[in-house]
Amino acid sequence: MLFLGPQIGSPIFHSTGTLETWQARIAARCVGNSRLIFSLGAAFAGPLLGICHEENGGFHLRGASSTGKTTSLYVAASLFGGKDYIQRWRATANGLEATAKMYNDLLLPLDEMGEINPKDAGEVAYMLGNGTGKARARADKSGGARDKAKFRCLFLSTGEISLACGDDQDLEEKKILSKIQLFFEMHGDSRFTSWHKDFDTKTYNRAGFKKTEDDRSEYYVLEEVFKNEICQGSDWKKAAKLLIKKGYLKSSTDGKSTRTESLPGIGPVRCYRFQKIPSGKEE
Ligand SMILES: Nc1ncnc2c1ncn2[C@@H]1O[C@H](COP(=O)(O)OP(=O)(O)O)[C@@H](O)[C@H]1O
Ligand SMILES: [Mg+2]
Repeated sequence: MLFLGPQIGSPIFHSTGTLETWQARIAARCVGNSRLIFSLGAAFAGPLLGICHEENGGFHLRGASSTGKTTSLYVAASLFGGKDYIQRWRATANGLEATAKMYNDLLLPLDEMGEINPKDAGEVAYMLGNGTGKARARADKSGGARDKAKFRCLFLSTGEISLACGDDQDLEEKKILSKIQLFFEMHGDSRFTSWHKDFDTKTYNRAGFKKTEDDRSEYYVLEEVFKNEICQGSDWKKAAKLLIKKGYLKSSTDGKSTRTESLPGIGPVRCYRFQKIPSGKEE
């Protein structure tokens, strides 16, 4: 395959050494490291997208600092040039279309997603995956709306947080979970009657019951408290669905978010049964 794209002469490309030195010094040293092999694979796949009639796409390497994420990008970039071949998320978000065009039919390595806000990252990833830029509201000189820019590339991104965090829906879910976490942090002891104590113990403004067994606590939350207090300002039906999906709430056998539980001193009532509570550490 001979590369004859319009990008030829672009400052992102460099050649140095020989194929043999690349094979010996870079490729051979990737053997046994699945991430480096993967990154090389992605780099080889970039120029093949069009030939194979494949769509745009990308991969995000997520991990703690100093785990070799940027190094993986260097390895991938070695197919095309040096470290100048790597782009940063921040610069790309500002000039997405220009960058994406420069990397047409190539791998676009994007370092350090954490430098931009999750919403922008989500938008960039979406556009890269789609292969189109933003629709232009501004009309061109002839008065017609300008076409959206089109490009075809694979991206390989790095960051310490998940790319999915850029999703609005995900942000909304995070907000709900942290609100619920806060409620339990503030009232977990004071407003929940211990399941095992005698029922004379007074709980003012009771939110429900707390049952502890083998160091594990379950919270049985009264229906109205859940709807009007814990979820205040949010859609409680949505919140309940999310809590079930994430495994915090135990649903009833017929799939409802409330269960009929026999509460001490009260008897059977429908309530929300938390098997665990959000801790802020969830994905
Ligand atoms: N030029 C270098 N020479 C030697 N070690 C390096 C060099 N660059 C990075 N490292 C080390 O390699 C490891 C991975 O670095 P890096 O790929 O930058 O991680 P990340 O991008 O995940 O934070 C780190 O321990 C780092 O200190
Ligand atoms: Mg890095």
